[in-house]
Amino acid sequence: MSAGLFVVFEGGDGVGKSTQLRMLADALGTAGRKVVVTREPGGTALGVELRQAIMHGDHVDPRAEALLYAADRAHHVATVVRPALAAGAVVVQDRYVDSSIVYQGGARGLGGEVERISRWATDGLLPDLTVVLDMEPDPERMSRDLDRVERETAAHAEMIRQGFLGLAARDPERYAIVDAAREPGQVFSDVFKATRVAMTRAKERAS
Ligand code: TMP
Repeated sequence: MSAGLFVVFEGGDGVGKSTQLRMLADALGTAGRKVVVTREPGGTALGVELRQAIMHGDHVDPRAEALLYAADRAHHVATVVRPALAAGAVVVQDRYVDSSIVYQGGARGLGGEVERISRWATDGLLPDLTVVLDMEPDPERMSRDLDRVERETAAHAEMIRQGFLGLAARDPERYAIVDAAREPGQVFSDVFKATRVAMTRAKERAS
């Protein structure tokens, strides 16, 4: 059986994660891999409820918000991600621990504790590859109110962007920073290349 592979997409809101995720899942499926596409928050039935609570409630205390993301993550990793990886699937996931580090730890000012909480929640599961879709924030899009969480200013969006770039710089082997301000096909070409490299590395580790 092929080794499982855990690929995560990160980046600010509106950088095209869903499109790239879908393109990668399709390509891997066509190549005969078993693929599980999932997301945080909201990758389980419990997670859907937690997502609703986080996104559409009134003010949520930042620590409570961080714990809701962590609760979603703990349940999701234990019941979806780890079993899929154990079965040899490629898990293609929209957001993971880095989103909490950047949004709750950085932007909401909760600091390093947030990373510790997420590491505990996941029992230390790291992605084989994190694709950071990188793009300069678009002020127009950012001011279009979508929901509470997405009501971000351009300055805030730039802080988020720098947060992801900083995490990628910390561990370049496990990250691919991809310029997302291009045609989806061009972006995907880089995403696919990075996935193949990660796949080869994972196979070498498993053998
Ligand atoms: P999405 O629309 O890309 O699924 O993300 C929903 C929002 O949730 C997005 O603005 C980022 C935010 N988020 C956090 O603040 N912390 C987290 O840990 C995760 C997973 C998402």
